[in-house]
Amino acid sequence: MNLKNKVVIITGASQGLGKAIAYKLSHEGAKIALVARTEKLLMEVKNRIVNSGGVAEYFICDISNNQQIEKTVQDILNKLGKIDILVNNAGVWTDENLEKEHPEYRKRAFEVNTLGHINFTYTVLPHFQDQNSGHIFNVISNAGLLEKDNVRWKSYAATKHAMTGFTKSLRDSLAKTKIQVTGFFPGGIDTNLYENVGRQDAHNQPWMMKAEDVADCVAFVLNRPNDVYVESLIISKKM
Ligand SMILES: NC(=O)c1ccc[n+]([C@@H]2O[C@H](COP(=O)([O-])OP(=O)(O)OC[C@H]3O[C@@H](n4cnc5c(N)ncnc54)[C@H](OP(=O)(O)O)[C@@H]3O)[C@@H](O)[C@H]2O)c1
Repeated sequence: MNLKNKVVIITGASQGLGKAIAYKLSHEGAKIALVARTEKLLMEVKNRIVNSGGVAEYFICDISNNQQIEKTVQDILNKLGKIDILVNNAGVWTDENLEKEHPEYRKRAFEVNTLGHINFTYTVLPHFQDQNSGHIFNVISNAGLLEKDNVRWKSYAATKHAMTGFTKSLRDSLAKTKIQVTGFFPGGIDTNLYENVGRQDAHNQPWMMKAEDVADCVAFVLNRPNDVYVESLIISKKM
């Protein structure tokens, strides 16, 4: 769809890939609802968009809390009037070391990467069904693909495989509507995802893409004409 004046919710928009997607889609004329927990970072993203002539509002929300999701979606409707696209992007990494991985990390990863995305989707979906249009864009990971070498990813891979299943099932359920559901499966991206759990090789690795380049791919998918359906997209760094 043409992104001009479309209202796009982006979860995890305070940094990393979500921030890059926000800048890119705003540049294409979309109005952005920035969702995350850290107000200071959200405010910086909003200000940069507004200062370059775009439209953005931020909404503080922990997506592991369903009441906060419901309030946020209502606040977005009150402030921006409608919702056209939901980008489920917020995410956390788990410690990949099987022996050291703390059960709390594991729980958190499922609450955010899986249940957070599913609950956000179910909160927005009735609005898309009422208007018989909308696009649910799930940022999953190549860790959500069975055929990839998942040896290092364990619980994180489990959270992402669950989203692959949900995305496929939702797409099938909505096949007779005008609502689109895309699964997005990027490889490594240079963000703070790994640093946040203390991983050593957190940045500048040969397997990492730039967040801006990945955001370009997201914009490409969301910018297709309404009758062109990108059901899934896999991208990775060419070594
Ligand atoms: N980096 C990679 O190599 C890679 C590869 C494939 C897929 N992905 C996926 O891409 C997505 C974005 O990750 P990233 O790499 O950009 O990581 P990032 O830089 O760490 O950003 C994660 C974002 O998620 C938000 N977030 C975390 N917990 C949240 C919660 N409970 N409620 C609301 N927002 C929350 C964070 O904001 P606050 O802390 O302010 O809440 C932040 O904006 C994730 O789904 C990730 O799994 C990443």
